[in-house]
Amino acid sequence: MDVVLIEWASVIVRWTHVVAGIAWIGSSFYFIHLDLSLQARDGLPAGVKGEAWQVHGGGFYHIMKYLVAPTQMPDHLTWFKWEAYVTWLSGFGLMVIVYYFGADLLLVDRTVLALSPNAAIATSVGLLLFGWLAYEAMCRSPIGRNELTLSLVGYVFLVGLTYAYTHVFSGRGAFVQIGALVGTIMVANVFAVVIPYQKKTVAALIAGQTPDPFWGAIGKQRSVHNNYLTLPVVFLMISTHYPLLFGTRFNWLIVAIVLLIGPVIRHFYNSRHAGQGSPWWTWGVAAAGMIAVFWLSTLGPREVKSGALPATPAFAAVEEIVVSRCSMCHAAEPVWAGIGVAPKGILLDNAERIRAHARLIDIASVRSSAMPPGNITEMTGDERQTLAAWLAAGAPAR
Ligand code: HEC
Repeated sequence: MDVVLIEWASVIVRWTHVVAGIAWIGSSFYFIHLDLSLQARDGLPAGVKGEAWQVHGGGFYHIMKYLVAPTQMPDHLTWFKWEAYVTWLSGFGLMVIVYYFGADLLLVDRTVLALSPNAAIATSVGLLLFGWLAYEAMCRSPIGRNELTLSLVGYVFLVGLTYAYTHVFSGRGAFVQIGALVGTIMVANVFAVVIPYQKKTVAALIAGQTPDPFWGAIGKQRSVHNNYLTLPVVFLMISTHYPLLFGTRFNWLIVAIVLLIGPVIRHFYNSRHAGQGSPWWTWGVAAAGMIAVFWLSTLGPREVKSGALPATPAFAAVEEIVVSRCSMCHAAEPVWAGIGVAPKGILLDNAERIRAHARLIDIASVRSSAMPPGNITEMTGDERQTLAAWLAAGAPAR
């Protein structure tokens, strides 16, 4: 397809995705806060668990929560679901535009596993489906009866998948894949559990029957999962722009730590909003986790064995490496099939431009192996070390 069309589709779909995501996460944070801040008192109508007063936008709101449902259905009922559905639909669209159309560069890394682009796409879609079904089975099995067991098993499951993904896809591909799986689980919780059971509740009420409290309880379980998964999923989505996170040796451990930090931070807010005090220790745990992530991200790419750097190379050697490994794409007129303009406007086709981009080269190709994408131009570990020695000497001009 035309490169300009793909670029524009990417802009529009990304815009939609981010806005829908903000609307979804915003309303979900709002309802979790509301739920936790409800106060019970005498004199509330029958079936009401609690009430809350809020002030916003020049008016006061008086909200009551009916546990299970009110005895009579109101005429107007607002459902919250399209934010979630649009987030998933646009997210999957973006996955197709960026990672499936660009599979040979962004999803596949032949040094990890020699997959054809089509095989990688099929694997990616298959793993999304598998991951979701496995989660659903876990929640409905005896494991799902105890929240703590379920969280532990679910955590090990996600970390295991992340580790496996980093042995199937490129680092970046693995990160987007685990992010997409977590996002899919969250949307499926809304689409396949919360909303259908809420519809059953409404239908039962209209028919004059008593709704099964289980329908509400399972919906609650899934919204709690979504609450704890929100921060990790946002991190995973933006992490694909940061080579030090996805393009380094212990990228899967970084994900494992972030999957812990997110829920810990949510715990702080959940306790606070429920009026159960502020567990400040959570920030200590989160900070320690981020320090560990920082440290892991400095350990370098897989290809490079740590050890003493070679002697500072002549600039000509650096130029030759960059021109032969990078400039087929990063040139005023790229020669790589499918690359219409230099990616991100980064030009690496002459000595001056290479020097000007020393910092970016450092991040993308020395401290990580994000570039060349999927190591498609077969840059060697020794070449990365030569660039490292040049950068360590202050990127000298000759
Ligand atoms: C096969 C084509 C290709 C080759 C070869 C290539 N790149 Fe890239 N590069 C890309 C693409 C595509 C992107 C944009 C990725 C994206 O969409 O984020 C990119 C993005 C970048 C970025 C920007 C990353 C960011 O944070 O936005 C840098 C820096 C970079 N490349 C450096 C290099 C260096 C250094 C080399 C050689 C060692 C190299 N590239 C080789 C295709 C290539």
